[in-house]
Amino acid sequence: MSPEEILYWLKETDRVKLEELRSRADSMRRSTVGEEVHLRGLIEFSNLCSMHCLYCGIRKSNMEINRYCMSQAEIIEAVSIADDFGYGTIVLQGGNYDGLCAEKTGELIKTVKSRYSKAVALSLGERKLGEFSYWRRCGADRYLLKFETSDPSLDAALRPDNGTGYSIRIEMLKVLRRMGYETGSGVITGLPEQTYSSLAEDLALFRELDLDMIALGPFIPHPGTPLGRMFADGPDKSSEQVPNDEITALKCIAISRILCPEANIPSTSALGAVDYEGYARGLEWGANVIMCNVTPYRYRNLYEIYPNPNACWNVNQQHVWITDIIKGLGRKPGSGTGPRIRRISIMQGQSDSCELQNGLYRNCSSG
Ligand code: 5AD
Repeated sequence: MSPEEILYWLKETDRVKLEELRSRADSMRRSTVGEEVHLRGLIEFSNLCSMHCLYCGIRKSNMEINRYCMSQAEIIEAVSIADDFGYGTIVLQGGNYDGLCAEKTGELIKTVKSRYSKAVALSLGERKLGEFSYWRRCGADRYLLKFETSDPSLDAALRPDNGTGYSIRIEMLKVLRRMGYETGSGVITGLPEQTYSSLAEDLALFRELDLDMIALGPFIPHPGTPLGRMFADGPDKSSEQVPNDEITALKCIAISRILCPEANIPSTSALGAVDYEGYARGLEWGANVIMCNVTPYRYRNLYEIYPNPNACWNVNQQHVWITDIIKGLGRKPGSGTGPRIRRISIMQGQSDSCELQNGLYRNCSSG
């Protein structure tokens, strides 16, 4: 798909024409990743965060929420619940927190890997390179690091901790890949000031990075954040502003499937948060993964990156609803760990030395 075509589809609003995009993505999904929908057991083990991203409810400066950090025993208990449901992957997610202990995290990864035959995916934000490689040696299989936007000025405005105006996350993704991680990234669609052309570049970058996992969800204003307060008067109506509606996120899922046929693409919680049926639509527009939240009930409301009325589903109810959605679409829950399977060889022009020149080692000691 050419850059012009990406832009064309992002701007298309005619539902009849959009059906062409959806069905193209759906056929691509069927012929590459098939009918299985992989279920991941998501553990949001801490909402502590050192960052001040303007869109995120768990940003450090949000004093309105109580902070928590699950104990190792609680995390292992959540893993065993995920195991009971047969989820093949455990996703350990937490805020981008400087105080996270690399050794304890490594021990946890080793424990999970030794007791269960599961893939372990980490989603812990920007870390030192030494930590990434240590966790890989401990057995972590995947790393999720959304770059949110590849537009340097938007990135600098929305993620003030990243003083460079350049997304260090993009360079970290290349390093993670070289370390042997399956790498995942993604963006938020409809962020204030996000233009169609910048979003089109984000999507093209997914392919350039040859991502194994791609997560896309609409921006959901959180009243306790600067962007949420700014958004209280409604979205900017200028013609270049990307809307934060469901259809835009669905179009991005479909385009990502066409650009990156083999990637594992979740029908994200943000889609399900706006409308529970959103999960089903994500699967119809190219997605093949759903994250099932196995975080203990008492912590659910505290991991409030955005308001989510579905956050309090209990695990049994959630499992039934999600498997019903999958079966209702004539698909089936996946088996095994659901890794990226390489079926097509796409040659990418990736330079191995580029990240060394981008200041990653200067800004981030290897610990
Ligand atoms: N709306 C939608 N997604 C958000 N995230 C953070 N804040 C918001 C928001 N207000 C997403 C980011 C982050 C993931 C855990 O949640 O993409 O990486």
